[in-house]
Parts: sequence; C-alpha cells; structure tokens
Amino acid sequence: MIFEPFTIKNVTFKNRILRSSIGGRTSYYDGTVTSAWKNFEKRFAENDIAGIVSATITVDDRRWSPLEYPKISDDKFIKPLQAGIKVVQSFGCKYIIQLGDGGCHTQTSLFSQESDAKSSSTGFDLLFGYRNRSIEMTVEEIEQTIHNFAEAARRVREAGCDGLEITASKGYIIHQFLNPAINRRTDDYGGSVEKRFRFLKEIVKSVRDKVGSDFLVGIRLSALDYNYLPVNVRLPVVLPFKHFWMGNGLEETIYYAKELEKLGIDYLHISAGYGFINPKENPGDFPVEEVRMFASSTRHLSFKTAARSTLLNLLPNSILKLILGRGWTFVPGVSLGHAQKFKEAVNIPVIANGGFQQRDFIESALQEQKCDMVSMARPLLANPDLLKVFQEGKNEPENPCTFCNRCTIRTVMFPLGCYEPLRFSSQDEMEAQILKWSATPDV
Ligand SMILES: Cc1cc2nc3c(=O)[nH]c(=O)nc-3n(C[C@H](O)[C@H](O)[C@H](O)COP(=O)(O)O)c2cc1C
Repeated sequence: MIFEPFTIKNVTFKNRILRSSIGGRTSYYDGTVTSAWKNFEKRFAENDIAGIVSATITVDDRRWSPLEYPKISDDKFIKPLQAGIKVVQSFGCKYIIQLGDGGCHTQTSLFSQESDAKSSSTGFDLLFGYRNRSIEMTVEEIEQTIHNFAEAARRVREAGCDGLEITASKGYIIHQFLNPAINRRTDDYGGSVEKRFRFLKEIVKSVRDKVGSDFLVGIRLSALDYNYLPVNVRLPVVLPFKHFWMGNGLEETIYYAKELEKLGIDYLHISAGYGFINPKENPGDFPVEEVRMFASSTRHLSFKTAARSTLLNLLPNSILKLILGRGWTFVPGVSLGHAQKFKEAVNIPVIANGGFQQRDFIESALQEQKCDMVSMARPLLANPDLLKVFQEGKNEPENPCTFCNRCTIRTVMFPLGCYEPLRFSSQDEMEAQILKWSATPDV
C-alpha cells in the first residue's frame, strides 16, 4: 500500500509517505527564505516523497523561534516562498505549510523580549522557552493571534501551496491553551475542555474563512500530553491531579478531533507529548551534548537560561540522563496506537508520525488501517532516498537512522543534516553530507 496514491480533499499524493516538519535556519535575517531552504526541501521532493510538511513557520512577526527560520507573517514573504514551492511541486511532490506560533515556548531570540513570554496563563517552566515566566495573554492579544493565523493562511494559499497544517501540538501557543495543566484561565478560554478548545476553534474558523472551503487544511494534534515527560514544574498543582501529571487525556483529544471534523478540518496529523523536544514525539536517545550546547548558546537571554545552562554544564552526563533522559527510548511507530484510536473516532484521514523507518512496519500499519499515511523526519534526514530503498524491496536502508536525536536539537543551528558520527567513517564524510545541500546557492 505504501506506493498507492491517496487523496485528501482535492489533493492526490502519489504514495503514502510524507516528510514531516523539519525546521532549520534557512532564511535571511528578516525571515525570507534562501535557496538553502529550497535546496533542503528539494532533496526530499526529488526522492519520491509524496508531500512535504514545512517547518513550523511563524505567523507572528515577533515570536520567531528559532532565529532565521522562515516566516510568513508579512506579504513580503509570499514571493520567495512561491519560487521554492514551484521547484518542489515540479517533482510531483505536494507542499503543505505548517503554521505555528511558539507562544512562551519561543526558544531563542537575539534579545530578550516580552512577547516571547506570552501564553494562555502566567507560569514557570524550567525547560521550555527562555523567559523567566510566561505571561497570560489578554483577550486582545488572543484576537490578534487568531488574526495572524488567518492572514498567514491566506499567504499560504497565495504562495501556491497544496495545503496548510496548523500545529496544535509541540507545546506551542495553541497547545498551551489546550493543555489543562498549563491553561489556568478562568475566562472563556480556559477551564473546561470546551473552553480550552475555543482558541483553536476560532483559529480554524478564521483560517477557513480566508482560504475557502476547497483548500486543504490539516491539524497536527498531540494525542496525549505526558506532562511528566519532561518534568512539568508548573506550580501550584492543578486538580484533578491527572491533568497536572498527564495533561490532556485521550478522551479530551478525541473530543478536539471530533470538533475539528465538524469544523471541516481535512486531516489529523498525530504525534504525542508536550514541548519540543520530548520523548513521545522524538523517540530515541536523549542528546545530552546537544542540549548542553543549545543551553549554553542561549544563556545570555534570561536568569532562567543562565541557571539552566549552569546546571547543564555542572551536572555530569550520567545525572542528566537520569533526570532529563527519563522516558527517552526508541519505540517504533510511537504514536501509531493513538493514530488508530483517532481513525476509529473520526471520518477524516489520519497521518501517523514518530519512529517509522522500516518498510514492513509501515506497510502493515497501512494494511491494518491504523493510519492512512505515515510521516517521517529523522529517517529521511539520514536517508533522503528511503523511498527508493523501499522500492528496491529492502526493509530498511543499509545505514539507517539511529534515532540519536542529535539532529533534533541541531535544528536551531545551521546547517542541518545527520550529526550521528556512528553513521560515517570520518568527520569529513559527515560534514560533506551536511554541507552538500547548503553550501551552494543552487544545487
Ligand atoms: C531537525 C528536526 C526539526 C524538526 N522541526 C519541526 C518543526 O519545525 N515543526 C514540527 O512540527 N516538528 C518538527 N520536528 C519533529 C518531526 O516533524 C517529527 O515529528 C519527529 O522527528 C518524529 O518523527 P521521526 O521519528 O520520523 O523523526 C523536527 C524534527 C527534527 C528531527
């Protein structure tokens, strides 16, 4: 089934494999995409991937994380995006832009700014975001954010994309409203499951108004938040305790899915966990060295980041792995079981993500109707020609992704490629692979 076409709404994908979002610092300093961005996307398109979901592209001009990621917060970004998207589509690969807003999970900035602290509620989170505290959004700020999503959606259509995806996962702003341990509002945007959903509902409605009923709109949703992974240090504890410990339960996320279906959403893209990075989305090893490197590079931004970096540099790897590495292990198709639950609950296509690399495993997930499509990130970064490998009848590539997660943190660096030394015979070979697509303006 992997190589059977699949149609969602009016978009036909030539097979069942999508490239899941992979961010990267591929823009100029104002957020305009460079040819490095185009070349990066092109190498998946030219290797038979049916569709690409872009990096999370920010709808807010100020909350930009990481720096030099592409932006879509102004009309000036449309034209450069358009040119690259045409190249991707010339290979028969569909292009979907994922819209997002980091809220208080904005991880980096040139200078510390208050807008990077905005969230559903005021609080403290040691791991995500760089500001000392998050700040509750006013209703005006909520309305502005809804407007930002709608305007960005219009730009996605004008850029010639085949569709758009709204990220309601990853611990970003929408997720900050959905997650009951994070959202502690007492107004119409917090409290009950219906009220927490209101922000997303209003975004979906205004996006749909802008792009029309014929445009593909999907949602990336976290099936379960697993707040305890990594440690949720928001105090005081919320009741019921289950909400503090787990965040949304499956019954709540399935409620969101059913409501989204009613609102005319065309597909669900299922992952799990709260915050980027987290072990339920990126199953594999905890990349201690890279996390330390990232913490050190952002230590100037606030007291919190300085303390975080000091801690990470003081504690030995073994202790860090014990505390922060909890739950980090590779699980094939980590969200497939959840995807199946969503598939049983709604009548729109469901895409499963996380920990896919083997042909037989993907084939049986599709055959058993646990999902309609599968999306991949790290295995394709390691082997962009993975589909060709499958086509040759092999179950997995000769030099597979080890799910070491070094690339996942390296997303905030440039250039991006596979940083797993074990996969290369030398440092030079590894660097050559990383620089291949990024060194020349046009490849
Ligand atoms: C380098 C890198 C960058 C990523 N950037 C994004 C992103 O911008 N937006 C997003 O929703 N997910 C992002 N992800 C998560 C992936 O889309 C995917 O959910 C995750 O890696 C699990 O899939 P995999 O096991 O196939 O890698 C990123 C992952 C990696 C490795």
